[in-house]
Amino acid sequence: MISTLIYSSTSCLVGDAFQFDREMEKIRHVAAQRNEEHGITGFLFYFDNRFVQILEGEFEAVTHIYSRIRHDERHKGARIIWFSEIEGRDFSKWSMECSMNFIERNHSELSVKLKFINRFISDTSQQPIMLRDLLVSVALEMQRRQDFPKPQLVPLAANRNTSR
Ligand SMILES: Cc1cc2nc3c(=O)[nH]c(=O)nc-3n(C[C@H](O)[C@H](O)[C@H](O)COP(=O)(O)O)c2cc1C
Repeated sequence: MISTLIYSSTSCLVGDAFQFDREMEKIRHVAAQRNEEHGITGFLFYFDNRFVQILEGEFEAVTHIYSRIRHDERHKGARIIWFSEIEGRDFSKWSMECSMNFIERNHSELSVKLKFINRFISDTSQQPIMLRDLLVSVALEMQRRQDFPKPQLVPLAANRNTSR
C-alpha cells in the first residue's frame, strides 16, 4: 500500500533572483536523487512565498523523507494537510513547478483552483480532502500542459532589487 503526505510551509529563502534560483536548484537536485532512491514520487509547488509538497511512497519512506524535510532551515512552519493510504500513485515521478504566476495569467480554470487552494490552506476548518483533490488535479494539469514553461524560478517574495 502506498501512502501520501501533503504539507505546506513558509519559505525562508531570501536574497535576489540568482540566490533564489540557486537554492531551488539545490533542493531540486538533492530531492530528485533521494526521492528516486527511496521510491518517492510527487510534486512540489512554490507560490505566494509558500511551499506545498505532495509526497507518495511506502509509509516508511514517506515518513523518513518528511522528517528530514521538515527540519530544513529553508522553510518553516511545516504543517501536514493530508496523510493517508492511497490505492495507487497519482504521480509517476517527482517533479516541481514554481511558476504559479504563469497559471494566474494564462490558465483561467487553474487560476480559479489556485485561489481556492490559497484560501483552503489558510483556513484549517476547510475539508482537507477537497484540498488534496485540488492540489493533485492542479499538479497533474501542470504536468500535462505541453505549453507550460519549465520552472522560471522567479522569487515571488524575495527582494528583487539586490544586484547580482
Ligand atoms: C521545500 C523543500 C522541499 C524538499 N523536498 C525534498 C524531497 O522531496 N526529497 C528530499 O530528499 N529532500 C527534499 N528537500 C531537502 C531536504 O530537506 C534535505 O536537505 C535533503 O534531503 C538532504 O538531507 P541531508 O542533508 O540530511 O542528507 C526539500 C527541502 C525543502 C526546503
